[in-house]
Amino acid sequence: MSVAIQEKLKSTKINPFIGSQVHLSKDDLLSGEFASDLRELLEQRGVLVFPKIGFTEDEQVRFTKTLGNLAPEMAGELLYKVTLDTKANARADYLKGSMYWHLDGTMNEVPILASILTAKVLAPTGGNTEFCNTYSAWEQLPDEDKQRLEGLRVMHSAWTSLFYYDPEPTLAKTREMMSIGERILPMVWKHRSGRKSLVLGCTAHHVEGVSARESTELLVRLREWATQPQFTYSHKWSVGDTVIWDNTGTMHRATPYDPASGRLMLRTKLQGEEPFA
Ligand code: OGA
Ligand code: MN
Repeated sequence: MSVAIQEKLKSTKINPFIGSQVHLSKDDLLSGEFASDLRELLEQRGVLVFPKIGFTEDEQVRFTKTLGNLAPEMAGELLYKVTLDTKANARADYLKGSMYWHLDGTMNEVPILASILTAKVLAPTGGNTEFCNTYSAWEQLPDEDKQRLEGLRVMHSAWTSLFYYDPEPTLAKTREMMSIGERILPMVWKHRSGRKSLVLGCTAHHVEGVSARESTELLVRLREWATQPQFTYSHKWSVGDTVIWDNTGTMHRATPYDPASGRLMLRTKLQGEEPFA
């Protein structure tokens, strides 16, 4: 990472392998002038934090559009309410999966490039967002692991994550989640840049071609590896913080919080630019 870009963006590293704080002003961020440098820093650091930047909804949308193509939600909205309160978001149940390590949009042909989250209402306790760097986790693996993992394929599905938060679902619920589909994804994503990252998370059901036991052991081992302290950052929110993560080189999860706490985050997304490969 060039020191020049870090200085230009007034950024400071949070952990050696993940996260930078960016101290540009709101006007600077909205001007678009720093967009390509921010994109580069994001790819290098996985997560960028803009402490208490205080974006309005409109400003968050404008900032998102400076960085790439804004990906609208299924219903066409530009911003999505991340809350477990079913009165504020009818599909809040689906978000219970966000408490477990995951990537956003593993069911899409091209997963989203990045997600941008702004804190509006905090939970009194819990409700951090944690990130791990799946590029670094790959890069730090011993060579014999790297050789074994390249070429492995993993089945991912939304219904797999259902069992994390609802271990005994009804058949109707199971079928509803199954209707979203399944995808076979590479265990190791070879990006166009030449870098590689691990593709894991609570949507990962099994590794193809090995026994159920070996598959589970491998998925658990790699999740444990990738989420070690040196690869992770836990963001404790203040109202008005905005955080962006590179969804192609990180996993994330919310730490537990009371669904009735009113915690509310607003999310925008950047359209993916690269399929899993
Ligand atoms: C998300 C997500 C985590 C959080 O919005 O995709 O996983 O802390 N959010 O709310
Ligand atoms: Mn998510």
